[in-house]
Amino acid sequence: MGKLWGGRFAKTTDKLVEDFHSSIHFDQRLYRQDILGSIAHATMLGEQGIITPAEADQIIAGLKELLAEIEAGKVQFDVAAEDIHMNIEKLLTEKIGAVGKKLHTARSRNDQVALDIRLYLREEIGQVKHLLLELIETLLELAQQHTETVMPGYTHLQRAQPITLAHHLLAYIAMFQRDVERLQDVLKRVNVCPLGSGALAGTTFPLNRERVAELLDFPAITMNSLDAVSDRDFAIEFCAAASLLMMHLSRFSEEIILWSSSEFAFIELDDAFSTGSSIMPQKKNPDVAELVRGKTGRVYGDLMALLTVMKGLPLAYNKDMQEDKEALFDAIDTVKGCLLVFTPMLATMKVREDNMRKAAQGGFTNATDLADYLAKKGVPFREAHEIVGKAVLYCVEQGKALEEVTLEEYRQMSPVFAEDLYEAISIDYCVQARQVPGGPAPAAVRIALQQVEKWLAAS
Ligand code: ARG
Repeated sequence: MGKLWGGRFAKTTDKLVEDFHSSIHFDQRLYRQDILGSIAHATMLGEQGIITPAEADQIIAGLKELLAEIEAGKVQFDVAAEDIHMNIEKLLTEKIGAVGKKLHTARSRNDQVALDIRLYLREEIGQVKHLLLELIETLLELAQQHTETVMPGYTHLQRAQPITLAHHLLAYIAMFQRDVERLQDVLKRVNVCPLGSGALAGTTFPLNRERVAELLDFPAITMNSLDAVSDRDFAIEFCAAASLLMMHLSRFSEEIILWSSSEFAFIELDDAFSTGSSIMPQKKNPDVAELVRGKTGRVYGDLMALLTVMKGLPLAYNKDMQEDKEALFDAIDTVKGCLLVFTPMLATMKVREDNMRKAAQGGFTNATDLADYLAKKGVPFREAHEIVGKAVLYCVEQGKALEEVTLEEYRQMSPVFAEDLYEAISIDYCVQARQVPGGPAPAAVRIALQQVEKWLAAS
C-alpha cells in the first residue's frame, strides 16, 4: 500500500529517509490515546453530519476492534506508515474498507499528535502524583516514629544545631508537597483540547470542538489554531516540574548515601535495597540512591532537549517537533522508575537512633543555645556569641564538650553564667525549646505532621 500522502509524489521515498523520519518505534506507545481521540472525532463528525452516522458507527467499531487487537499483541506496526497516527488509519482502512478513509476528515496529524501527547501526559501526571503521595505517606509514617529521635542538623555539612529525624524528614515532605502542587498546576495547561486546529488554520468543516472536548473529558479547548499545533509548553513544563522533583530525590539520595556510610552510620539500608561488590566481599552499596542521583541528570537533559528543539521554530508545526516525544517519555519513565524504588527503600531502612544522638552530642551543636542562654539574661547577643566562641576554643584545646566545663571555669568567662546553664545546653532541652512554628521541637513537629495528614487527605 502506498503512502497516505502519496498523491503528490512521482517517486517513492528513499529507504534511508523512510527510516530516518519514521517515529513509529517510539510513538507507538500513544496507540490508545490515538484511538480514543479518533473515536471522539468520528463521533462528532457523525453527529454534525460531516460523515453519516452509519459511517461513524463503522469507523468507531473498527477502531475499538483495533484497540483490542493491539492490546492483545496481535498487531505489527509498519515503519513505512511512518507514525502511530498513519499506522492506525492504515490498519483501520484495511479492516473496514474505504469508509476508514473518512476518519481523517477535518483533522491533521498536527492537531492529532498534540491531542495524543496531551491525553498521554494527563494520565502519566496522575500516576506520578500517585507515586509521590505514596512517598509522602511513607515519610509521614517514618516521621511519626521519630519525633524524639535527636540528630545533628547541618550547614556546610558541619554539625550546626540539634534537630530531630522527624523534622529533617518534614523538610523533604515539604519539597514533595510542592512537587505535587506543581504537577497539578501543569495539568491545568495539559488538559486543553487542541483538536479542530487542523494543520495550522483550523478547518472549513462545521466542527463541534466543545463536543470533542466533552467526549474526551477536557475542561477547555485551545483558542488559537496556530498556537495549538505548535505549542509544547505543557511538555516542557512537565519536564521542568520533573527536574525539580528529581533534584529533591537527588538531594535526599545524597543524604541516604552519606548516612549509610560507616563514618555517619545513621541508617542501614535493607539488604533487598542494596547491592554488593564483585571484588570486595564486605561491601554493601547504596546503589539505588546513587542511581536516582545519577538519573537526575537524564531528566535535566530531557528538559534541555525540549527547550532546545523548540527555541528556533517558526509558527506553526515543524517536523523538529517529532523530537519532543522521546525526551518527554524518558522523563516520565525515569521519574516513575525512581519513585517506585525510592519509597520502599526508605520504608525498609533501619534508623540508628543511638548514632544520630551521639553525633548531635559531639560537635558543639548546643553552642548557639549557650549564647542564647546569655542573651536571655541580658548579654547583647553579639557579646554572648564572642564569649561562647571563646568557650568553644577552650573546649577544643582541652578536649572537652561544653557540658563538661565546670561552672567555675564558665564564671571566669562571664559572671552571668549560673548552674541552670547545664539544663539550657542539654541536647534534649535544645530541641524541646525550639517550639517556633516550623521548628524541630516535638510539639511543633506534631502540629506540622497533622497538617501533612490533612493535606494528604485532601489530595
Ligand atoms: N509524527 C509526527 C510528530 O510526531 C506527527 C505529525 C506529523 N505532521 C506532519 N505534518 N508531518 O510530530
